Amino acid sequence: MERKSVFVTRRIPRAGLDLLRRAGLELDVFPEDRPPTREELLRGVRGKEGLLCLLTDRVDREVMDAAPGLEVISLYAVGYDKVDLDEATRRGILVTNTPGVLTDATAELAWALLFAAARRIVEADRFFRSGRWTGWGPMQFLGAGISGRTLGVVGAGRIGTAFAGKSRGFGMEILYVHPRANPVLEEELGARRVTLEELLRESDFVSLHVPLTPATRGMIGAGELALMKPSAVLINTARGPVVDEKALVRALKEGRPGAAGLDVYEEEPRPAPGLTDLPNVVCLPHIGSATVETRTRMARMAAENLLAGLEGRVPPDLVNPRALEARK
Ligand code: DGY
Repeated sequence: MERKSVFVTRRIPRAGLDLLRRAGLELDVFPEDRPPTREELLRGVRGKEGLLCLLTDRVDREVMDAAPGLEVISLYAVGYDKVDLDEATRRGILVTNTPGVLTDATAELAWALLFAAARRIVEADRFFRSGRWTGWGPMQFLGAGISGRTLGVVGAGRIGTAFAGKSRGFGMEILYVHPRANPVLEEELGARRVTLEELLRESDFVSLHVPLTPATRGMIGAGELALMKPSAVLINTARGPVVDEKALVRALKEGRPGAAGLDVYEEEPRPAPGLTDLPNVVCLPHIGSATVETRTRMARMAAENLLAGLEGRVPPDLVNPRALEARK
């Protein structure tokens, strides 16, 4: 294979970089521990055949124009909402992602947020550390119980299904929203497929697991939040723009829903004004897939996908197979 070159927009675990180096590719790894600026991205991709990028990089027509020889865009992420897929497909550029390997890590983090928000873990921890605790109190940090309550799962794909499956042991009633019936949820967990409105009205915990698409952008706005119970908890580990974050700040101030646990934000890395002042929200910095095992597997997978595409094979996790036709 001729020596092809790749721009890697951030240092990823070695497992992936080593694989690319061993394959003889010329690697240009962005050296800073921050996402490249727009100019740095455009400069970095220039003249490259491969781009290994992150969910923080917007890969649009301008980026593709900067690299007319670009063959593969390999995402170190499962979500590919920041890539102009139609444009890449039209140009015959293969786009790949890392599905499957982060399913459990993300589902586990959604549960961590659910527990933290329901039982006020972060608030209580802050209180303890502040030295204000004077001893056990019958009314201190009363939260919401989890066992036997109703769990609403919005989006029953891989992560939503894994998230719901982890409720085994808590004896919960499960409601879900998905374009198709999910036999795993229905047969193994007795889950009921309902409308979004019904799910929001009836659930004690609502967890979002939809990809960001034009149809899901702003799916949870002021009207939807108002349907939730005052005691309910909203969890978002999917994508920030699925929720109208300003409306969520207003709703949390009014106590409907009662609490939220967020890992993703509309304008990352900036939260909506007022969000971080609220005591009833737990905010994490988009760490859904952040386990050592998962990130290592993501790195290997992103490298394998990139390599396959550059070597003229069909990458295992190709998201735009139509690009293959455009190449002919
Ligand atoms: C993804 O891969 O899309 C996740 O959001 C990363 O945590």
